[in-house]
Amino acid sequence: MAYRLFEGKEHASIYQQYRFTPPSGLKDVIIQYLDKKKGQPHVLAVDLGCGTGQHTRLIAPHFKEVVGIDISDFQLEEARAVPGYANITYRYAEVRCRCKC
Ligand SMILES: C[S@@+](CC[C@H](N)C(=O)[O-])C[C@H]1O[C@@H](n2cnc3c(N)ncnc32)[C@H](O)[C@@H]1O
Repeated sequence: MAYRLFEGKEHASIYQQYRFTPPSGLKDVIIQYLDKKKGQPHVLAVDLGCGTGQHTRLIAPHFKEVVGIDISDFQLEEARAVPGYANITYRYAEVRCRCKC
């Protein structure tokens, strides 16, 4: 049985407030990997399960366009409320995997 803990308005608000900013070292590892494997420019990144957008914003300066996707309208509402990231768009979608989980 699945529990969908992140979707409520209150949870999204608390998540935005207290979820720590991811370490920039993690982002550096990802970008350096892409630089080496694919090379510049980095055109599009898709952040599946973006929540309130902490990682989405972290990678935004390195891509022409970033799309954050989440199943929670409230998480997306919090993400969209953060100004200053013209290359990010947020979209509602339920990502489904093919396994039986
Ligand atoms: C643990 S939070 C992580 C949020 C963000 N990536 C971060 O690092 O702060 C997981 C997020 O995935 C979303 N989520 C869970 N299942 C999903 C699904 N099937 N499709 C799209 N989003 C989903 C939740 O609504 C929640 O915002």
